[in-house]
Amino acid sequence: MKIEPAAALVGDVAVPGVKSISHRALLLGAIADGESDIRNFGRAGDTESTIGALRTLGVEVTEDDVDRVRVRGVGLHGLEQRDRPIDCGNAGTLLRLIAGILAGQDGKRFELVGDESLSRRPHERIAEPLRKMGARVETTDGGAPVVIEGAKLHPISYELPVASAQVKSCVLLAGLYADQGPTVVVERGAPTRDHTERILRAMGARVESSPRQASVWPVERLEPLSLELPGDFSSAAPLIVAATLLSGSELRIHGVNLNPTRTGLLGALERMGARITVFNRRELAGEPAGDLDVRSAELVATTITAREVPQLIDELPLFALAAGMARGESVVEGAQELRAKESDRIATVTSSLKTLGIHIAERDDGFGVRGVPTRPKGGGMSSAGDHRLAMLGAVAGLVSREGVEVGDAEAVAISFPGFFDLLESVTRR
Ligand code: S3P
Repeated sequence: MKIEPAAALVGDVAVPGVKSISHRALLLGAIADGESDIRNFGRAGDTESTIGALRTLGVEVTEDDVDRVRVRGVGLHGLEQRDRPIDCGNAGTLLRLIAGILAGQDGKRFELVGDESLSRRPHERIAEPLRKMGARVETTDGGAPVVIEGAKLHPISYELPVASAQVKSCVLLAGLYADQGPTVVVERGAPTRDHTERILRAMGARVESSPRQASVWPVERLEPLSLELPGDFSSAAPLIVAATLLSGSELRIHGVNLNPTRTGLLGALERMGARITVFNRRELAGEPAGDLDVRSAELVATTITAREVPQLIDELPLFALAAGMARGESVVEGAQELRAKESDRIATVTSSLKTLGIHIAERDDGFGVRGVPTRPKGGGMSSAGDHRLAMLGAVAGLVSREGVEVGDAEAVAISFPGFFDLLESVTRR
């Protein structure tokens, strides 16, 4: 798909519901007692994988509308063993979180499979703590298929070897099944997103957390959910960056999730001189939310440190582009985890942006960018099947001189199926 250069982004938009919370609401709704109702559900390829996985496990999911789903909970121990594998598609969050729940299904055996990208990603990171809790877990060369035999679990205190909300969440979900408790996850490095802790509390579980550790106690039952989800900050991010880089932009994005464990991009852009105002701050689905007003701005370089990385892990590709058009040298350090995403995002971001005329160099743990405050030339790049790369290509096209041909642009549907239409609706050429 060819993305032509744009003059500005102007208008009012809203983005689909938070994908991370959509997965969690479905998975936890499935083991609650009673029916959960999720509105402004983030429908996308990944969350459809979660619906499919739950149906495979015998859970009834009703789709009232594209953005409204109901899940009939089967209780903590009610998931059914099937003789066919559970397909997690491209969704790392699904595979890693459901593994924690399946580990607690005593005496049942499950096989989790995924697409080529998910099969290659590192899953020993969840297998190891689940084994420590008493489940039998086998990965395939460290990746998927992952086979899980549920057991009676016992609590552990586990220090995260990598800053990952998926691993933290997996252990906390297994902790719901661990006799006595509490199960404790220690975050020695930077704190990761806390959607799981918030949603578990809303369902009546006892969860205590600080930026350094989260503890969960076993439960007898979980209350069903009734949630109206805020928009996904990661889906708003391409719009925020494009509006910042295109002079004359005046864009408002309404009802965006502003969980502070997710909004590191705002802090980074603010340091760079961006003009982003938050208004109508409110709470949606037990999470901070608000409306954003984004005006264009000239940016200066900044450094992203390891401690900040989890707060903008999925936005680092977009940060690289913004840094490429900022005055001065920017650096992203301590971001090795980018190599374990849907693609090796250090390699794919660096090579794609280089081709488009951005001065970016790969580092083992991130990248260095020499910014030039002018439009990059543009050209062609492929998403490599990675949704965040496809969105990066689209934003790069808008801010370029000659446009960008994005190969495999359909990959956006993994997290944001209506992305190109929404972008077009606010683009002024
Ligand atoms: C997610 C956590 C992050 C993030 C992913 C969603 C989640 O992954 O990159 O898109 O919903 O918990 P890691 O936990 O692997 O860092």
